[in-house]
Amino acid sequence: MIIIKSAEEIELMRQAAVPTKEMLNNLADIIKPGMSTKDIDDYVEEYILKAGMKPAFKGYSGYPACACVSLNEEVVHGIPSKKRILMEGDIVSVDLGTIYKGFYSDAARTYPVGKVSEKHAQLIKAAEDGFNAGLFFARKGNRLGDISHAIQEEVESQGFSVIRDYVGHGVGREMHEDPMVPNYGKAGHGVQLVPGMVIAVEPMIATGDYAVRVLPDGWTAVTKDGGYAAHYENTIVITDGDPILLTK
Ligand code: MF3
Ligand code: CO
Repeated sequence: MIIIKSAEEIELMRQAAVPTKEMLNNLADIIKPGMSTKDIDDYVEEYILKAGMKPAFKGYSGYPACACVSLNEEVVHGIPSKKRILMEGDIVSVDLGTIYKGFYSDAARTYPVGKVSEKHAQLIKAAEDGFNAGLFFARKGNRLGDISHAIQEEVESQGFSVIRDYVGHGVGREMHEDPMVPNYGKAGHGVQLVPGMVIAVEPMIATGDYAVRVLPDGWTAVTKDGGYAAHYENTIVITDGDPILLTK
């Protein structure tokens, strides 16, 4: 069941998303070779608490941190660690969210660490391009499959693959609500978009094959072939007109 949000609820979700978007913007300058992935999580935890909000991820299904920090071939759900040190040429995905007055925000970016290869810079950009291609169809009357299909076309046209095992989702009083929002699919299929729907659209893409496996820690998803992965996510609102990006 898809829960349509009222204007008042959307206003709370907008407020929940403010620190999320600020952190993701700030991290572009903060992330440097030599930091640990735990340093990123510490920054996120402190920022959320200072904002008077709750971290969305900590304790979610037992997840132990405030951010997911996924390096290189790690696709999503990387657990921050003092022992994982960012090195020049790495790419690092940071996924984070807040809860404010009962509502969730959820967003992610992938950052270059220092100077990265041309290919990996393009991978990072392709995840964002895929999101934007999908966003173009995030309008009332269109169908979910229009968004999914546009993301897939954009990403694959740039020579990258779309991860199948993880998808976007509705957001609201739960982090994961209906509908599921795959980053691949058929135009013209799926539920119709209506004003008040709030969805997290989040292309996860890879340089090689899209197959993933989960490491023995029970969380970290890595590409099976070791290709690098990128992730770009925003929480968006379907309206009568242009979609609203709450986390950008
Ligand atoms: N941000 C992720 C998503 O979009 C959720 C993180 S899983 C958690 O689905 F357990 F770490 F919270
Ligand atoms: Co999400």
